[in-house]
Amino acid sequence: MDMERTNIRDEARALNAQLVEWRRHLHRHPELGFDTQNTAAFAAEQLAAMGVSEIKTGVGRGGLTAVIQGEKPGGVLGLRADMDALPIQEETGLPFASTEEGRMHACGHDAHTAMLLGTARLLSQHRAELKGAVKLIFQPAEEIGAGAVAMIRDGALENPKVDAIAGLHTGNFWTGASAGEIGYSSGALMASADSFTLSITGTGGHGAQPDRAVDPIAVACQIYSTLQTIVSREVPPAQAAVITVGTIQAGSAANIIPPTCTMQGTIRALSPETRTNIQNRIRDIAKGVAEAMRASASVKFSYGPPPVVCDPGMTAKLLRAAGTIVGPEHVRPVDAPTMVGEDMAFFLEKVPGVFFWHPSALKEGENYPHHHPKFTISEEVLWTGAGTMTELALTWQE
Ligand code: NI
Repeated sequence: MDMERTNIRDEARALNAQLVEWRRHLHRHPELGFDTQNTAAFAAEQLAAMGVSEIKTGVGRGGLTAVIQGEKPGGVLGLRADMDALPIQEETGLPFASTEEGRMHACGHDAHTAMLLGTARLLSQHRAELKGAVKLIFQPAEEIGAGAVAMIRDGALENPKVDAIAGLHTGNFWTGASAGEIGYSSGALMASADSFTLSITGTGGHGAQPDRAVDPIAVACQIYSTLQTIVSREVPPAQAAVITVGTIQAGSAANIIPPTCTMQGTIRALSPETRTNIQNRIRDIAKGVAEAMRASASVKFSYGPPPVVCDPGMTAKLLRAAGTIVGPEHVRPVDAPTMVGEDMAFFLEKVPGVFFWHPSALKEGENYPHHHPKFTISEEVLWTGAGTMTELALTWQE
């Protein structure tokens, strides 16, 4: 057993030069949204060379799935990487910078794809020890929050049915661990990201005769204030949530009471319960306050990804696997979740799993945030991501 695990660590480390080569190729040729056909074709070509079977492209338009069948009986672990880039003009000056005008891998998805290819290479050499199968899921359109849903609709989690799932994000989103280590969260790692439009209907009229009108701006002010009590008075204090009203629009002149007023806002939450409660309370408050003031209100929600919440059992297995690869003392909890959204959450809603942080920041002072034209990562640690996913695939059923 110990022999086996030592092998994966050493084999992953020895694969780093290959991971760098793959990552640089992908970095040179970024693709956007669902149009990740060339990236998927490149991955398919590498997987075919490894002898990986059931390679399917066009899953969720630009996506790809493939299966590594183990020689022992067991369940199916899904491993997911996103492949899409961003509409940004690269300014890193790196020798392998993007060759595509106005497109750049500025969030590390090139590294995610390379690390999943590396995982496939390692696992394809360890089929004899692999229980069940691993389903590789290469996803398009993460940055627009639509790729995971499209792949799920296209059956990415079926045939074979995926029993558990794992994925990672590289870069410098979180603090608490540094390059060469692995970061995790026992609870939520990232927030849900929904938005709402709240419409208030009153009765327009002359500004000098408010008694003959129902002023929707006065109603909006009361609703706005009352919405602020959801986070401060109703969400448990130890749970983070955000309600931001970003626009309030009404009226056309100083002496006219307008007939309607519209507010738009964004909602972030770290648990599905808080997310649902906030939506219900926004609806109740809008309706109740408006009715009390002789107006009416309606709310429309536009749903983004749910919160990224890891399964405790899978998180425990991740900690063990990551500890084998980087050493248990280098597996660290993140300091705090980020309120940014991530569409891996759609997979985690369907299948128990774990999403973890692969820190790849450069030396202090050399780092730029994700989605910045100068964003880049340390390539020296790509092997720790591939190694951890491989180790997890070989041990999650123990
Ligand atoms: Ni990303």
